[in-house]
Amino acid sequence: IKTIGIMTSGGDAPGMNAAIRAVTRAGISNGFNIKAIYRGYEGLINGEIKPFTTENVSGIIGMGGTILKTARSKEFPTDEGQQRAYETLVKEGIDALVVIGGNGSLTGAMEFARKFDICCIGLPGTIDNDLYGTDNTIGYDTTMNTIMECVDRIRDTAQSHERIFFVEVMGRDAGFLAQNSAIACGAEAAIIPEESTDVDQLAEFMKRGIRKSKKSCIVIVSESPKCGAMYYADRVKNEFPDYDVRVSILGHLQRGGTPTARDRILASRTGVGAIEAIMQGQRNIMVGVRNNEVVYVPLSEAIRSDKPFDKKLIKVLEELSI
Ligand code: F6P
Repeated sequence: IKTIGIMTSGGDAPGMNAAIRAVTRAGISNGFNIKAIYRGYEGLINGEIKPFTTENVSGIIGMGGTILKTARSKEFPTDEGQQRAYETLVKEGIDALVVIGGNGSLTGAMEFARKFDICCIGLPGTIDNDLYGTDNTIGYDTTMNTIMECVDRIRDTAQSHERIFFVEVMGRDAGFLAQNSAIACGAEAAIIPEESTDVDQLAEFMKRGIRKSKKSCIVIVSESPKCGAMYYADRVKNEFPDYDVRVSILGHLQRGGTPTARDRILASRTGVGAIEAIMQGQRNIMVGVRNNEVVYVPLSEAIRSDKPFDKKLIKVLEELSI
């Protein structure tokens, strides 16, 4: 392998730039050529590619978003899209691909690597933390901290006005962000996809807190197309006639921002790990960090939808929010 292509794909995540920097610099240090692919798989299909030097990645470690841009490609999952992407790789002389992205992006990499003879290495770049085989994904810690800051502010209003707030956070199909931010913010409850929620029980729990001494309440709700924060606020509001029940959807402000030290370090370690993996002849794996060790996880495993969710976190929140 002489030339490595690097791209970011799917939703941007803080720390993606630190990962681009790490792959580029470690690659060049070890004698590889690096080619940057813009706009994810879209750019691979359309040939939006340029050679990168160490200067291209200078000063980006602390920047949110991704300098390579990103996209959710509709064409890449098709046979024709993948064929065109492969032709671009051949034309550009790229013989290994490093894809920084989440579940969908790494699924794309796995399918591509199965069909064509190309070495694909994934880096876990997503705020959702839903990739199997790595303790954390790049971007998750920054987003956790962003949510915590936002909810702390909402708490000021909730306490001052004595209100009930349902705060909706991202996470797609995973409740890591919701559950852990609820713990970090001292919220009263979290509604997550990993656990079913009985609305009557939730209302009863909230009432118990109010009867005891609480004058405000915050519930963190993991996003869901049908049962988001609005749904739960509507369902319980009649139970709290003396309270103003409000909804706050944090939305995309959760995705941007300067990455935390943890995310920069995770991105740097896995970026260097990607180059080491290529030099060791590894193929079609994701580089993660488990128990503070860099690990290689087969792409087919990384995209599993059942990343273990520690149910003890539910107890921690319940015991502390009485
Ligand atoms: O996967 C990251 C994520 O932010 C999810 O939490 C969220 O469901 C989704 O992306 C939103 O994507 P988009 O910005 O494309 O609407």
